[in-house]
Amino acid sequence: MEKTFLMVKPDGVQRGLIGEIVRRFEQKGLQLVAAKLVQVSREQAERHYAEHVGKPFFDNLINFITSGPVFAMVWQGDQVIALSRTMIGKTNSLEALPGTIRGDFAVHTNLNLIHGSDSPESAEREIANFFRPEEVLDYSKAI
Ligand code: CMP
Repeated sequence: MEKTFLMVKPDGVQRGLIGEIVRRFEQKGLQLVAAKLVQVSREQAERHYAEHVGKPFFDNLINFITSGPVFAMVWQGDQVIALSRTMIGKTNSLEALPGTIRGDFAVHTNLNLIHGSDSPESAEREIANFFRPEEVLDYSKAI
């Protein structure tokens, strides 16, 4: 079963949106297999956003993601990577459609509430940056 790394960013945690965001993915039928609040270190943030090194927004991004706790999660499901990105909405706040998490709750591209892996390779790398293998649980859904 495919897995993805989703992270409620500091703005989402501070705005009390963890429950709303988790509810959406649970309601969709995806399975939560790992979760924790994390104060991200600079090194961990730079590993997470390695593909953005050198971009004009990189320093702001690292400062922002280390500014307060994030809620790190691993979700599992059929095509969960593409599905969760559809539910999250576009990165550019002007293109994030109503009905998506960013479209419903975010105004700024920099304060866009949630991160989702964009490929199986990214998901594997991002999950390993936040969770030890034994923290990702394998359990049957009761229903
Ligand atoms: P995220 O999905 O976490 O991946 C990289 C983040 O950089 C992105 O969400 C935005 O929060 C932030 N960002 C800021 N400016 C840009 C930009 N021009 N293009 C892409 N990402 C940006």
